[in-house]
Amino acid sequence: MLSTFASRALGTERWTYRLLNQNTSSISNQNQTTIAWSRRWKAAFIGGAILVIVLAWIGLAALARALRIKYVSLDRYQDLCVSSYSTYGHGPVFHTPPNRRAVVTTLYSDGYAIGVAVLGHSAKAANISARLLLPYFEHKVSPKALCIARAVGWEPMPIPRIPPPKGEDAVHWRYKDQYTKLSIWKLDEMGVDSAVYLDADTMVRSNFDELFDSPFNFAAIPDVWGGRRGFSVDFNAGVLAFRPSTAVFGERHAKKLEIATYPIVEAEQAFLNLYFGPTALRLPYIYNANLAIKRRNPALWKRITDEMRVVHYTLVKPFVSNLGKPADALLSPEELDEAVTIVEGQYGGLFKEEVGWWKEEYEMMMMVHGHTIEQCYSS
Ligand SMILES: *[C@@H]1O[C@H](CO)[C@@H](O)[C@H](O)[C@H]1NC(C)=O
Repeated sequence: MLSTFASRALGTERWTYRLLNQNTSSISNQNQTTIAWSRRWKAAFIGGAILVIVLAWIGLAALARALRIKYVSLDRYQDLCVSSYSTYGHGPVFHTPPNRRAVVTTLYSDGYAIGVAVLGHSAKAANISARLLLPYFEHKVSPKALCIARAVGWEPMPIPRIPPPKGEDAVHWRYKDQYTKLSIWKLDEMGVDSAVYLDADTMVRSNFDELFDSPFNFAAIPDVWGGRRGFSVDFNAGVLAFRPSTAVFGERHAKKLEIATYPIVEAEQAFLNLYFGPTALRLPYIYNANLAIKRRNPALWKRITDEMRVVHYTLVKPFVSNLGKPADALLSPEELDEAVTIVEGQYGGLFKEEVGWWKEEYEMMMMVHGHTIEQCYSS
């Protein structure tokens, strides 16, 4: 079948036909059979050769893919060099007064409101000496959610959304809003000299005031993935210690966001890795204790537990409903209780202790602010 097809495709049949045509009158039956057989052999041979070529081609392509250099953010960094921003200055340590420091997180929907409230409460409980600033989406966050955030000390401030630069569909659905995080560089306009950004799914375990006096303009913590990727040199964008600069925001935004090449599905985190590349100061895991560390290396997790400043609920989120309610809905205290119980059992109960930390912090928050928060719910 294949060889007949191949011989037709190559026009070999026509060649054979011409040969027969020349000798029609003198050819015997015996010869005709021989010619028919040699035709089949030729076709089979050519078909086989094509098959070998195709397989070799596929094999070589796979080999080339395997040997190809895998580009990481540091390879692409040189195009976007921002070395002038990397250090704040040298000499005696410059102390930023508490009213010019900020802890900042973002609230894009009601679904994270309780998470943000517990985060804010945990920062206060750890005596972080800074303002708590909460940029949020005006048309997506309800007055109830803002009321709860205010109750623990957040200062909400509406901000416009920054859409993904190469279209909504280019980005993983969970990261569609994440480019808006880049606006936090404009906080100098709010009188902030030094800031620590924390993802809404983090919680403060102990004081990290030292970060506000870092002599470097940008610091972050190397990323960890639960699966095959494991420990990475790229940083995780969930905890960032930085000096806001509208100038840096403007330059980066105007010129670089559109033209930069990076794994676009990973959104702002990949872009920030590209942009700050090797100049980012790498901080120890205690500043962004990603649950993925526990999954990859439980012994390391155990070693850093006592020193942890910030825990990052990456693989499980205690406040996210798994009860069929939309992910952007505000959970009632009862629904939250139920959600926490479910989350404790995820990953075979691997994170039961860490979810317990969150639950404890939530209960402390309700002890102090429960009355105000209840009023928010019924407002
Ligand atoms: C925070 O400060 C208060 C009052 O100074 C103190 O009682 C409390 O122990 C401090 N908490 C921590 C975690 O340092």
